[in-house]
Formats: sequence, C-alpha cells, structure tokens
Amino acid sequence: MSHISSIDLTNCEQISPACNPVDEFSVAISSLAEQHRPSRMPFFHNLATLDHAIASDPSFLGQIHLVYQAAMHATRAAVYYLPHLDSPALRKRKLQIFVDDDGLPGGDTHHYQLTRAFRNIGAQCVLDDEAFAEPEELCRDVDGEAAQFVRLAKTLYSRSLGPWCAIEVMSVDWMRALADALSVHFPQFADEPYFAECFSEMVEERHAEESLSVTQMVLSARPELLPATIADAAIMAEALDGVWTHLDRIVEIAREQAVQRSSAPA
Ligand SMILES: [Fe+2]
Repeated sequence: MSHISSIDLTNCEQISPACNPVDEFSVAISSLAEQHRPSRMPFFHNLATLDHAIASDPSFLGQIHLVYQAAMHATRAAVYYLPHLDSPALRKRKLQIFVDDDGLPGGDTHHYQLTRAFRNIGAQCVLDDEAFAEPEELCRDVDGEAAQFVRLAKTLYSRSLGPWCAIEVMSVDWMRALADALSVHFPQFADEPYFAECFSEMVEERHAEESLSVTQMVLSARPELLPATIADAAIMAEALDGVWTHLDRIVEIAREQAVQRSSAPA
C-alpha cells in the first residue's frame, strides 16, 4: 500500500525550502498521477491485442462492464459525500460536478451512457443499472480488487478531498486508454456519448482542475488537513491500480479459456 513517504516530493523541495500546503499538495498529486497513470497498466494493451473472437464475446464484455461500471459508480456515488465544501459558493461548484455525471440532458447520466456503450458492442450486462447501489450490496457481485475499490471509495471520499482529486486527475487518461483499446475491436466505440461528449467538452480535464482548485482553497484555510488529504489520495490511487489488475485478470482468464477450448479434443 502506498504511503505519503513513498511519494516523490523532490520537486516540492526545489520550489522552496518549506513548501506551503497548497504547493505541497499539488506536487504530491502530480507525483501520484504519474506513478499510477492508468494507461501504463497492462490491461489496456492486453485488451487491445486480445483475439477479436474473445473480445467480442457478450459474456466477456459483460464482465468488463460490471467491474468498470462498479468502480465508476463507486466514485460517482461517493462524490455526494465530499467533506469541507459546505459554503454556498462551494456547494454550487460541487453541484456542477454532480450535474456533469448525473444531470445530463433528457434525464441521462454517465452511468446510463456507459451501459449503452457496452450494450451497443454486444455486452451481456450482469447487473441492471439500478442494481448499482450501496457498496456492500454491490460487493456481492464484484470481488477482489474491484470490491476493495468500491468499499474504499465511499469511506475515503467522505473523509478528505485527496481521493477525489487523485481520481479526477487520472480519469481522462483511463477513459482514453479504454476507448482506444476497445476501439481496436469496435471502431465506433469511442464515438459513444460516454466518451465523445467527455472528450469534446473536456469534462474530465475540468473536473481535475476544479477538484484541485477547491482542495487547494480548503488546504490554505486548514493546512492541518494536508497529511491526511495526501495519504488518502495515495490509498485511492493504489486501489485504482487494483481495478486495472482485476480487469486484466478477466482478460487473461478469457484468453486461457479460449486456448483450452481450442486444444480440447473434438
Ligand atoms: Fe470526473
């Protein structure tokens, strides 16, 4: 598990002999984002290079959808519990983040968009959209690192702003990596509104900036929150790595099962 001590704060030391909390936080989050950059994880490359017959199997796509949607759902739900943003001005800014996820035109949401994107490439979804609810309930259907992430998201998001920042600064990277990997098999996948609207409107870039901006504001007023904010961000980033590891295991199992089937006597 990551700890604050493992984060490279060398750049911070170069800024000034004694960083202020805002600078220290910015350096720590940049360092975490680099260390845990999702697209570096083998899952995305292995998914892109998977045999097309395996990648297009409805049940395989359903498993990928379940784990990825569970992780995304956990963060979208956890945002509603963010602390320290209770003034009217900060509530307005927080509301915009809720609206970006859950207040899309026509009653649409990122959750529904993502499910449609997977159904449109043939996924046989394991859970109905409304079955994504409380973490403990959801963890009856997801296990391993994904369950760990789902459980941690609500706990960590509700006690400091660091985990939210860590996720938001990395989200555009994994969305592009996922869109690119599945577009190898389904060229129209990246055109799905879940990806296309996010990329064209730079939603995740805005979320990254906004999460950092409000957190820096909070830390300037309450510098004593800095160590826990960074430590929680590190735990969340480590847990996010686990989600990609979990997804990669699904890819690996599907590949092994295909090999076994092809070598089994007729
Ligand atoms: Fe976001």
